[in-house]
Amino acid sequence: MSDREYVIKAENLSFRYEGAERYAVDHVNLEVEKGEFLAVLGRNGSGKSTLGKLFNALIEPTEGTLTVCGMECKTEDDAFAIRQKCGMVFQNPDNQLVATIVEEDVAFGPENLGIASEEIRRRVRWALETVGMLEYRKNAPHLLSGGQKQRVAIAGVIAMKPEIIVFDESTSMLDPIGREEVMRVAKQLNRENGVTVVWITHFMEEAAQADRIAVVHNGSIAMADTPKKIFSKGQALKAFGLETPDMSYLAQELRSAGIMISDEIITVEEMEVELCRYKSNT
Ligand SMILES: Nc1ncnc2c1ncn2[C@@H]1O[C@H](COP(=O)(O)OP(=O)(O)OP(=O)(O)O)[C@@H](O)[C@H]1O
Ligand SMILES: [Mg+2]
Repeated sequence: MSDREYVIKAENLSFRYEGAERYAVDHVNLEVEKGEFLAVLGRNGSGKSTLGKLFNALIEPTEGTLTVCGMECKTEDDAFAIRQKCGMVFQNPDNQLVATIVEEDVAFGPENLGIASEEIRRRVRWALETVGMLEYRKNAPHLLSGGQKQRVAIAGVIAMKPEIIVFDESTSMLDPIGREEVMRVAKQLNRENGVTVVWITHFMEEAAQADRIAVVHNGSIAMADTPKKIFSKGQALKAFGLETPDMSYLAQELRSAGIMISDEIITVEEMEVELCRYKSNT
């Protein structure tokens, strides 16, 4: 018996859009452990967003089973309960904010849950503080930067105290500073608050920071392993339409030229250490 606790369990999970011939999510078997930071990579149209929407109960499985925090989505009530446990942050910061003042926007979710107003005030304050946006609580969301808007969107999600947050390319419309801000908040929520993160991205350097990467290809999970293991398989990644980080690629090239350094290298620092080790051994 394993004592691991899984917050997401998908068994032969499949989804087909109405009228579509192919499954957008095709017999996926995947378990996400409580407290894990899982990155999801895959080329355009591979099924990443559809998978995220299934986790968030925005859509229901066509076939197979999916349990999220022990719940299966069979009715509207289930979907409502699952969405409280598993929040979602989307790509476009402008489409997610509904109110004209930041703190009202963050209060929107908890208000819909019927939470008492004293508790809502506490949560809004805590959520804005957690994402580093408390000083902007009286501001108008449309005047914020993209990264700030995404952080307010995250505050709105965490104000509902979810166990899981799915980020669907939530940094892809941001400038480098905004990307960094949002990634930092996600990592902090994961490490300090124990929130399980599903981080859908097409940035390799973001995926490299995850505990594990799942590669989606044609609706299926093609590979799932640690970033080091995933990025050491350059040829396979290429076949799935993905690039290899520069240092992982260089390590593979050096190895095929007979310089047998580790193949589990992602960063420049790791390459430096490996090359020094190699040099002192020869
Ligand atoms: N609303 C929809 N109706 C019909 N087909 C859809 C719909 N949304 C997505 N699809 C199809 O389902 C498949 C998976 O799409 P999905 O959006 O999940 O991929 P993705 O990996 O998120 O892509 P991207 O990287 O472009 O965001 C694609 O073939 C897509 O064309
Ligand atoms: Mg998508």
